[in-house]
Amino acid sequence: MTLVTDPKFPNLYQVSHPLILHKLSQLRECNTSKKEFKELLEEITRLLVYEATKDLPLTTRRIQTPLETIDTPVLEGKKPVVLPILRAGLGMVDGFLSLIPSARVGHIGLFRNENTLQPELYYFKIPKDSQERHVFICDPMLATGGSVSKAIELLKERGVKRISFLCIVASPEGATKLTTTHPDVKIFTAHLDRQLNEKGYILPGLGDAGDRLFGTR
Ligand code: PRP
Ligand code: URA
Repeated sequence: MTLVTDPKFPNLYQVSHPLILHKLSQLRECNTSKKEFKELLEEITRLLVYEATKDLPLTTRRIQTPLETIDTPVLEGKKPVVLPILRAGLGMVDGFLSLIPSARVGHIGLFRNENTLQPELYYFKIPKDSQERHVFICDPMLATGGSVSKAIELLKERGVKRISFLCIVASPEGATKLTTTHPDVKIFTAHLDRQLNEKGYILPGLGDAGDRLFGTR
């Protein structure tokens, strides 16, 4: 896979691959069914996770194969945490767990106020020892960046140092906010879109991800 970077957003990586681009086109299509939307979200997430975890540190463990004893690579340290931003981030959890089934699962409930576009927190639960783990925040949409910034602030308040963010579509406005306020957080996205509209929706985007995932339009 190719990681596309842009000097304007030094910590944002567009994971470019024909399968991701094809599936993203299907995801954007307004006639895509609820069932297909859920499946596509999960499949794209799996491909993003593959790239977003490529720098996870390894150690070695001695194991016995049927023929020999070897020192062989295994992931080092505590299991990572996947942290979906409710609701739409829930659609990325199974894709993440399909590659790292032992990952811990936190939850953060954030609702974007339609008038102010500010995130309102209604739930937050992560493992107690999250400061010793790598936390992967998942949300399909990086729009103004308010929701994920709030999630990052809460994690940092609890001493979490290793944070990555996985999203499906990013706006330049959200990417600018995140790269300037949290330059230590790597953002992995399937696509950097053109702009936000006056209601804070990403263009061309894919609409309201939570509503399309849960059929609540
Ligand atoms: C959407 C989306 C993100 C947020 C992005 O959620 O899933 O969480 O908006 O916007 P931002 O970058 O401007 O903060 P929403 O608040 O609509 O909640 P929902 O997922 O429950 O529908
Ligand atoms: N939230 C969404 O679900 N879609 C957008 O385009 C922006 C925020």
